[in-house]
Amino acid sequence: MASSGNTIDEQALIDAAKTIRLHGHAPYSGYRVGAALLDENGRLHSGCNVENAAFPESICAEANAIGSMVSAGGKKIVAIAAVGGKDEIEACTPCGGCRQKILEFAGGDTQVLLIGDDGGIERHTIEELLPASFRLA
Ligand code: THU
Repeated sequence: MASSGNTIDEQALIDAAKTIRLHGHAPYSGYRVGAALLDENGRLHSGCNVENAAFPESICAEANAIGSMVSAGGKKIVAIAAVGGKDEIEACTPCGGCRQKILEFAGGDTQVLLIGDDGGIERHTIEELLPASFRLA
């Protein structure tokens, strides 16, 4: 369970991201990424990166996790975590495009969880990660 009432089991999200990262298809970069998110109904959705020989066709892990949430009827990201790395897992902050994708389903209270250099969990809002963002009125 990644959610119990209003509390978020952050470790469960990180663990889910680590687990799905193992499925990452990254033969070109060697950098596998896993992302896991909690939706407004307490459901967990995850995705890994899927690279392609035609490089721009590659899909980021966060995009796949978000696609999974939307496909399942989820409307809002309560919290999202991503982990990446070639061998050792390291801090993986969402790329610019993924920040925009997270914003689409985020609220001011959405937590973007990052693994800090010390291995601890850092919490950020999407506003911190993508200030002055593009929005349609
Ligand atoms: N990648 C992600 O999956 N998410 C990010 O936020 C950053 C980058 C992937 C794309 C590519 O497959 C690999 O990491 C190296 O850039």
